[in-house]
Amino acid sequence: MPGMSIISFCSFTSPFLVYAEKKGDDMPSTDALSAIFTRRSMRGFSSRPIDGSTIHTLLRAAFSAPAAENAHTRRFIVITNRNALDTLPALHPSAEPARQSPLSILVCCDTSIEPQTLFWPQDCAVATQNIMLAARAMGLGSLWCGIHPLEAREKAFISAFSLPGTVRPVSLVILGYPLQSFFEKDLYDDHAVFSNLWGKSYRPKQEEDSSQNVPL
Ligand SMILES: Cc1cc2nc3c(=O)[nH]c(=O)nc-3n(C[C@H](O)[C@H](O)[C@H](O)COP(=O)(O)O)c2cc1C
Repeated sequence: MPGMSIISFCSFTSPFLVYAEKKGDDMPSTDALSAIFTRRSMRGFSSRPIDGSTIHTLLRAAFSAPAAENAHTRRFIVITNRNALDTLPALHPSAEPARQSPLSILVCCDTSIEPQTLFWPQDCAVATQNIMLAARAMGLGSLWCGIHPLEAREKAFISAFSLPGTVRPVSLVILGYPLQSFFEKDLYDDHAVFSNLWGKSYRPKQEEDSSQNVPL
């Protein structure tokens, strides 16, 4: 394609491929769909450290997530200190795996930043998902520990991490090289997908044949 570099061509197919192309290194990476389909919540991690450039990539992935009104309200606390990681199970009932993992990321929103948007929980959720998919693409496992909207959990993290009054913690992501293998689980549910109107079954094959003239 004239005028189009390998990097810009690859950006149409996989953001993770772009990273590999740009860096030109041998960092393990997988394509976007494989990362999506084989990401699983991991609850067992090795103590193998995660290097700084990998952590940077996770954060770049977080900042790359869509945001309502393009508001830049997301804030992240990178937790690598062993003592801090060991306190996480006291703050969250699912955070026991943090005792083995070398890294967790606390995803927060600074609600004082303009433009303010009511969509901040979703903005933080998609950033959380981007971290987890980037992690999977680089061979790291992850576990989403939900905080917002549970008030008691929010309070525990606000206090433990000295969050300012305008900052709300939304999720904690525990990260590390997993003890378990990644695997695909086909969760597609025919009964949860409708065609053009609630109640009418969607059948991908038939849709292809009749998509031109479907009466509502
Ligand atoms: C908003 C949200 C909050 C979650 N909170 C927790 C949690 O507190 N503890 C936990 O073990 N898993 C939590 N999870 C992970 C889900 O339990 C997990 O994604 C689900 O069981 C499906 O498994 P999979 O991720 O392996 O596909 C959360 C996921 C989401 C999206």
